Amino acid sequence: MRKKVLSGTRPTGDLHIGHLIGALSNWVKLQEDYDAYYFVADIHSFTNNLSTDKKNYYYSIVKDMLAAGLDPERSTIFVQSEVPEHAELATYLSMATPLSWVERCPTFKDAIRDLKAKGVVTRDSRGQDSKAGDEVQENVVSVGLLSYPILMTSDIVLYDADFVPVGKDQMAHLEISREIVRRFNHLFGETFVEPEGLLTKFPLLLGPDRRKMSKSYGNCIALNDEADVINKKVMSMITDPEKIRKDDPGHPEICNVFTYHKIFGTPELDRISAECASGELGCVACKRNCAQTLSKILSEHQEKRNDLSDEEIRRILDRGREKAREAASAKMDKVKKNMGLII
Ligand code: TRP
Repeated sequence: MRKKVLSGTRPTGDLHIGHLIGALSNWVKLQEDYDAYYFVADIHSFTNNLSTDKKNYYYSIVKDMLAAGLDPERSTIFVQSEVPEHAELATYLSMATPLSWVERCPTFKDAIRDLKAKGVVTRDSRGQDSKAGDEVQENVVSVGLLSYPILMTSDIVLYDADFVPVGKDQMAHLEISREIVRRFNHLFGETFVEPEGLLTKFPLLLGPDRRKMSKSYGNCIALNDEADVINKKVMSMITDPEKIRKDDPGHPEICNVFTYHKIFGTPELDRISAECASGELGCVACKRNCAQTLSKILSEHQEKRNDLSDEEIRRILDRGREKAREAASAKMDKVKKNMGLII
């Protein structure tokens, strides 16, 4: 039997190139060796974003998943809220989870700090993570935000996922998931598989301004950006601060543009590196080349996206929901049986 992997992404914005090289390309590789479950974590998205205008993102995200290479024949692709067992199991799990475990979760503390700084996003009509004037409620920390690791645990154990590909920031949650599973199994008998985090190793991709690529910084290169937008963003990239004039010797090893060349596979890397260092290659020409590399990759990605209609995505999600519910409802029967509930 193949081992299972599971991961999710929130529908709070269009995906960007950081998601492509971080999560998506890894998900695509994993589907070769594992039974893979990938879902749109729409219930999760309400922990810090109460916008009711997220529908377009579902389709956009699933199109990006498929364009990146996920195969709905092999991977089960679905929407969290369409499988009600996620919310149902979270309620049962919450009974076996000590309050202190979720209270001391480091990301909970960080999230409270963020919310205090930014405010919860409410019904911003653009569905964007922005301060929308008086639509923003300040300082609202919901019970849902506190219990977020429990819902995440439910997502994982409902399918007996053995591995969860996550970034470093999610590792603390996965530790809580493992603790919840151990405690539940101890209290009610062997019910769930204890999941393991698969720390995804990928190169850190900074935005053009060298800060972490993030929607709230407005420094993302989106997977659906057009060539002229990509061009503008790449041309604005901060390069080696010591290379002021074209013929100053540069240091590719510390230059963000060179990192992009490496990650996205611009040809003749060695030549670029040598000519930057010797002062033959100026930053403007180098960035133009980088914009070309990115535009080529993204235009291929977009071509694949554009071949997918919303109706087709809906069909894929319907099929994913059926497959997911089959596994989820069998698991719920086992949970109820072990907890001594009537079934
Ligand atoms: N926590 C992830 C995020 O914030 C999404 C997510 C929800 C998830 N449930 C999960 C990831 C279960 C892995 C496993 O984007």
